Amino acid sequence: MTRAVITHGPRRDAAAVVPDIDMTTWLASLELPSPVLTASGCAAAGRELDQFFDVTAIGAIVTKSIMLNPRSGRATPRMAETPSGMLNSIGLQGPGIDAFLDKDLEWLRARGARAVVSIAGGSVDEYTRLASKLRHVTDIAAIEVNISCPNVEDRGQVFACDPVSAAEVITAVRRNTNPGIPVLAKLSPDVTDIVEIARAVVGAGADGLSMINTLLGMVIDTDTMRPALAGVTGGLSGPAIRPVAVRCVYQVHAAMPEVPILGMGGIRTGLDALEFILAGASAVSVGTVTFNDPSAPLRVARELAIALAERGFESVEEAVGFAHRRPDPVPSAGGPVVDHDHAVDTESADAVVEAGAEG
Ligand SMILES: Cc1cc2nc3c(=O)[nH]c(=O)nc-3n(C[C@H](O)[C@H](O)[C@H](O)COP(=O)(O)O)c2cc1C
Repeated sequence: MTRAVITHGPRRDAAAVVPDIDMTTWLASLELPSPVLTASGCAAAGRELDQFFDVTAIGAIVTKSIMLNPRSGRATPRMAETPSGMLNSIGLQGPGIDAFLDKDLEWLRARGARAVVSIAGGSVDEYTRLASKLRHVTDIAAIEVNISCPNVEDRGQVFACDPVSAAEVITAVRRNTNPGIPVLAKLSPDVTDIVEIARAVVGAGADGLSMINTLLGMVIDTDTMRPALAGVTGGLSGPAIRPVAVRCVYQVHAAMPEVPILGMGGIRTGLDALEFILAGASAVSVGTVTFNDPSAPLRVARELAIALAERGFESVEEAVGFAHRRPDPVPSAGGPVVDHDHAVDTESADAVVEAGAEG
């Protein structure tokens, strides 16, 4: 009997043969066989996802931000649906660094998955102590520093929103970690000038940037007429934030093309991931979509390979920052043909960096 394979929509890509594209990428000194990672907080430490796909097949698992001590997080409700996104105020619930190292990291190591460990603190001292705990831990692919946390020593001002405090955290982490392990600073989009923050953290020793974290948002329940989240405000994620994230990656890559970027924000498909790569990201993290499609990181990687092949790329690396290059010249009769291919279009990049948020 002949079996018909019905292939529409996403299943078509899932069934398609994956083209022979070199998916190897680098985040500073870290070489990854695939440019698709999980996003911090959206896949715990990878164990739950492993029942849906082989977690060693993606770039890396980025673990939920871990703090020094165990935390129960914020009161409930702490999730709210929004159009094309969701709002969360989990409040960095977690077991604390010691239990994390014993259980979660141990599991990742035994499983053979690459682990990017995300850390978060409420003071520079807390980040210092977290970094010191990781100093002699082997098998960490990179450290992602979540600086979207309130600084308890500065009236709750979020580290990521101030270039000086953001740099202080990164200096402390870099000084106290193994110099061979890349440190990625995770930036918040809730700032006027993300390039200023990016320059500050790179100046302080960050080897790369993760961008973006969630945007601060709020939902009011019109039945109770009160905030929907117990924590009042929360972080907005999902497709709604993708254009903001792509803009941030584009601006920072235009200003600092040599700094590796792990891009994220609303990636659901391979084409979404491609947008980030073209904007200047060397790799991407897949977050919110994982809650309704746990296999999304692997599917996005497969779809990305297909999208790259369809556009004539032979490797991911070739496509990184492609959107900054001038379009191919239109040959004009008699005039010199200038080859602008591979040239950064600084005029349009500057225009984007300088333009404020307009309508
Ligand atoms: C439920 C939830 C928990 C998150 N927890 C963390 C976290 O612990 N640390 C962190 O740096 N980012 C955290 N994030 C932000 C994500 O890593 C990511 O930056 C953001 O959600 C944008 O990507 P996405 O739209 O694909 O989810 C969390 C996001 C969600 C939705």
